[in-house]
Amino acid sequence: MDGWQHEGMTQVWAHRGASAHAPENTIPAFELALDQGADGFELDVQLTRDDQVVVIHDETLERTTDGHGRVADHSLDDLVRLDASSGRAGFAGVRIPALGDVFALVRGTRATVNVELKNSVVAYPRLEERVLDVIAGHAMTGRVIVSSFNHDSLRRLAVLDSEVRLGVLYEQRLWKPWDYARRLGAHALHPSVALTRRTVVERAHEAGLGVHVWTVDAPRDIERMAALGVEAVVTNRPALARAVLG
Ligand code: G3P
Ligand code: CA
Repeated sequence: MDGWQHEGMTQVWAHRGASAHAPENTIPAFELALDQGADGFELDVQLTRDDQVVVIHDETLERTTDGHGRVADHSLDDLVRLDASSGRAGFAGVRIPALGDVFALVRGTRATVNVELKNSVVAYPRLEERVLDVIAGHAMTGRVIVSSFNHDSLRRLAVLDSEVRLGVLYEQRLWKPWDYARRLGAHALHPSVALTRRTVVERAHEAGLGVHVWTVDAPRDIERMAALGVEAVVTNRPALARAVLG
């Protein structure tokens, strides 16, 4: 198993796109992230009633769109008619993208895409297969890392596809997460910034794992993560992180 360690600089990955300045998980937020110098971005996916992979954080539509109810109860055709501007001025009419739309956007760039499976609340049978299909269909395997708080799902992905890169998301202290991640077949740890200490980064690197830390918005934290040598910070403020890291 290859690791996911970058040589050199800590990368900047925009959390839900440049979500401090554009509606989260939308094409304008991803475009803005790249314009602001991000090396990639993180996004969240759920599955529609007709088994299409869509980019939206919540299991329900109310917070970020003008729709109602659960994503799982709507078809893709229904969902792409909604306004996904999260009520932000200047973005009326922005749509929920399908995962393939986002991959089309980054074609021709070197951007990394961190796809987070949001399947801890709704089980979404076969979400793993559907995500792998979209990744393969867009020839994105080498540019994507799939993460989840649902570690059963990560193991399922590892069994289904030995090539896809996997990141273990966690926000509680784990015992030897570097050993755990290796046993799962993962390639990186995705700890919260509060859990990211020197020992974790060193042990992860010794185990051949990358370390991608979320959500890192304060300049002091961005500097601290870079000093620890993490491979990427996931941030709502990619322009700020770029300015801090150079
Ligand atoms: O990738 C980590 C982070 O995105 C997890 O939290 O709720 O923003 O998806 P959330
Ligand atoms: Ca996320």
